[in-house]
Amino acid sequence: MKFFADTANVDDIRELAEAGLLDGVTTNPSLIAKAGRDFIEVTREICGIVEGPVSAEVVALDHAEMMREAEILRKIGDNVAVKVPLTIDGLKTCKALTDDGTMVNVTLCFSANQALLAAKAGATFISPFVGRHDDNGFDGMQLIGDIRLIYDNYAFDTEILVASVRHPIHVLEAAKIGADVMTAPPSVIKQLVKHPLTDKGIEGFLADWAKTGQKIG
Ligand code: E4P
Repeated sequence: MKFFADTANVDDIRELAEAGLLDGVTTNPSLIAKAGRDFIEVTREICGIVEGPVSAEVVALDHAEMMREAEILRKIGDNVAVKVPLTIDGLKTCKALTDDGTMVNVTLCFSANQALLAAKAGATFISPFVGRHDDNGFDGMQLIGDIRLIYDNYAFDTEILVASVRHPIHVLEAAKIGADVMTAPPSVIKQLVKHPLTDKGIEGFLADWAKTGQKIG
């Protein structure tokens, strides 16, 4: 499963990339607002840090304007994936862009039927939001399982990008289902490394090592 960082914070992106943990990045208008940086400038910087897809979202709602924005976004770098909302205009934009060789991430997916439409429109990625789904009393992981089944039934190439990931169990379940990608805040990715027995083990080894009075080198 590929790991994308769901952030526009370049320090976090750099740290995860240096650890070899990043296959791409996703941003959205809220994350750009949180970073407090110019959208184009920060997206360009991220595209220079990460080789994989960097999602940059349009804010227009009609097809013509989405295409105009997408034109600006895709010029930022070859690894930009234009993010469009799951609406008819968004799907129309998705079809036009992917036909033209641009990666598209169709976002704000909350049903398997929506995911089916995105695949038919040629989406590179579909982003089902599991955390927001759970928040509203639905089962986010059931949604991922349904999309996996449908995409496999018809051999769609669209990659399932599990989004709105809130905790390590979301990551584990997504991997067990066979999602292609998950995008999570850097804090969640860093949580994955944590285990109390690892910390306890290090503590024990260092205590015993101190008793030897030795040094390496
Ligand atoms: C995905 O691309 C979105 O940016 C993101 O995962 C949304 O997550 P949230 O529900 O935590 O805002």
